[in-house]
Amino acid sequence: MQKTFYLTTPIYYPSGNPHIGHCYTTLACDVIARYRRMQGDRVLFLTGTDEHGWKIQQKAKEAGMEPQVYVDQLTDRFRKLWDCMSIQYDRFVRTTDAYHVQTVQSVFQKLYDRGYIYKGEYIGLYCTPCESFWTPKQVVNGKCPDCGREVTDAQEEAYFFQLSTFTEKIGDFLKNGTFLQPKERALELLNNFIRPGLEDLCVSRTGVSWGISVPFDPKHTVYVWADALFNYLSALGYENARFSDWETFWPAQLHLVAKDIMRFHAIVWPALLMALDLPLPKQLAVHGWITVEGKKMSKSVGNVIDPYVLTKLYGVDAVRYHLLRELALGCDYEFSSEVMARRIDSDLSNGLGNLVSRTVAMVEKYFGGTLPVEREIVAADSVLIDAVCALRKKVDAAIDAVHLKEALAEIFAVVAMANQYVDANAPWRLAKQPESRARLATVLYHLLETLRIVSGLLAPFMPNTMPKIWEQIGAAPTEVAYDPLQQWGVLPPAISVKKGAILFPKIETGAKS
Ligand code: MSP
Repeated sequence: MQKTFYLTTPIYYPSGNPHIGHCYTTLACDVIARYRRMQGDRVLFLTGTDEHGWKIQQKAKEAGMEPQVYVDQLTDRFRKLWDCMSIQYDRFVRTTDAYHVQTVQSVFQKLYDRGYIYKGEYIGLYCTPCESFWTPKQVVNGKCPDCGREVTDAQEEAYFFQLSTFTEKIGDFLKNGTFLQPKERALELLNNFIRPGLEDLCVSRTGVSWGISVPFDPKHTVYVWADALFNYLSALGYENARFSDWETFWPAQLHLVAKDIMRFHAIVWPALLMALDLPLPKQLAVHGWITVEGKKMSKSVGNVIDPYVLTKLYGVDAVRYHLLRELALGCDYEFSSEVMARRIDSDLSNGLGNLVSRTVAMVEKYFGGTLPVEREIVAADSVLIDAVCALRKKVDAAIDAVHLKEALAEIFAVVAMANQYVDANAPWRLAKQPESRARLATVLYHLLETLRIVSGLLAPFMPNTMPKIWEQIGAAPTEVAYDPLQQWGVLPPAISVKKGAILFPKIETGAKS
């Protein structure tokens, strides 16, 4: 039976142009989705936009537009950016889509009928950029504990979700399971939220008209987070007739988010699912922020970097590589155009690009482009061969753990090893000795095999460049499929190569940050 794999990004607020900060989560999901497809899984990769709420209502007003017109325009910009970044998502959910509205209303009614939603009055504080309610105890020096920005007073009649009744169950879920990654994050949640006891969550607003109306009390709209989280269900067709993938794909294998929205995904989301008696997602992976001068890159802080500027300067695959190579679960990454330029030069131009160009150039120069079939293997070759053959297993494990940075580190350690293999075997010296012809062919064949496996494993990370490598080294699609990526000696012995354009040009100008 084919395994199914459902993975999701957060749905983004279309409240401004998307920036590099938005790209990482979507890129990381794209790599995992591509890798799983390569492994033969049936994948559903979901992304989308979170289009209701006070913030969007205000932004549309400032722009002098109807909210729907405003979000239509901005949502298109997200789709365009994903196309530009070669993101291959399977489904794009919009919370203004009729099927999503239907799911939210139906689920809200269910929660109400089951007694999990009740009417009360909200008195407290509100962070508009995060669309989060806070109590005076929770704010830090008068600021939002998630993003550090100003909060405002809020008081209104509202419906509440009985989150407090789930304190123990959520505590056990976080303590005992393998749900949350990295593990230390669970401790943080247990200390900050579970130990003091969860508070009921306000799930409706009366002052925000741009939202889904509460089915049993239409002067209320559904609080934007209670609306947004259900995208993970509506996009499969749960309680709507638009899709029929619910049975096949739920529960999700992976939700990937940044740390600012961990609480909603690690506490509120499982509690809502528990209240509905639905299975819980398998894994929530939480990554750090891309920062500029220590602050989260964000439109409202005004420190964003335009992805189009970077892709124009460096190329899409190099930008993908850079972000995936620097960001990790658990840590922030201070964006730096110098680090980016250095990384692209050292790993891509001097490392991988150089390995491809010199290997192909030597096969052309010494053998007219086609290797002879004679071989002379020496014992020391096994160091490279063993490392290359062990690589797929390491990358598999890293992808399973959402450690994409580590996966790339493993792959590029092998690239470095192959470059050392060239230097240690000095093909240019062997070429001068007619009796070393078989040895020379062997060294070059080993390099081509290394490149076949490395490029196959890198294809999910850099999907535009790897096919160019396959063309140069003469690898057929079946030879870079998943299975042969841990077999040695797959390229035909008399393999022909074809020199191509430089894969990663050296960087001369740095991007302005
Ligand atoms: N709409 C909510 C999410 C609802 S999910 C049911 C939201 N949207 S957002 O537009 O603010 O985007 C949040 C996500 O964007 C973060 O979780 C993260 O995935 C990504 N990022 C936005 N800025 C980022 C950085 N500066 N660094 C890394 N990722 C960031 O919250």
